[in-house]
Amino acid sequence: MARSGRLIAVEGIDGAGKTTLAEGIAAALPDVTVLREPGGAVLSERIRALVKDPALEVDPRAEALLYAAARAQLVSEKLLPLLASGRTVILDRFVDSSLAYQGAGRGLGVEEIAELNRFATAGLTADLTLYLRVDPAVGAARRGGEDRLEQEGEAFFSAVVAAYDALAAKERDRYVVLDGTDPPDVVLATALTVLKRLQ
Ligand code: TMP
Repeated sequence: MARSGRLIAVEGIDGAGKTTLAEGIAAALPDVTVLREPGGAVLSERIRALVKDPALEVDPRAEALLYAAARAQLVSEKLLPLLASGRTVILDRFVDSSLAYQGAGRGLGVEEIAELNRFATAGLTADLTLYLRVDPAVGAARRGGEDRLEQEGEAFFSAVVAAYDALAAKERDRYVVLDGTDPPDVVLATALTVLKRLQ
């Protein structure tokens, strides 16, 4: 499928303010579609409920595969058709969440998880990644901690932040780093300026 729309991913740890940013972009730019991961399609939303459930025991490899399965469905059912129709899509998390959380946080290896996700996405990559950066302690103070991943401790989130930082340093053309401790309206204004440049 030919692709003329843009895919913009929003990344960061829990409590960084991604969802507020994605909602702000949606309100400011009515022509964009905002989707989230895991989710955005019926199957993927069901998988979301599974991976977030604190009552379930989930092996790290099973976890990586569940996120990849949710992603594969979203890509084929929603992302590819939307992008082919020329639509700009803002995606609240994408492959880099798996690289950071499963690859680094769970210690499965960033390259192993990248390989799994090349299969899951059939090679689809984001045109731009807005990385909302906060230190692990800031994320911890902001999040509720009620779902399975949010209950992880400081060492886990430190590894996740380090992995995001490494990706941002390696992929400077794709990554835009936003300061997640700035007020939400400042973060949104910066993101909108970046998005305007892209159009
Ligand atoms: P959120 O949409 O509320 O941020 O919840 C998604 C949770 O799942 C969050 O804790 C991050 C985690 N996650 C992964 O561990 N790997 C992934 O690939 C994705 C998309 C999310």
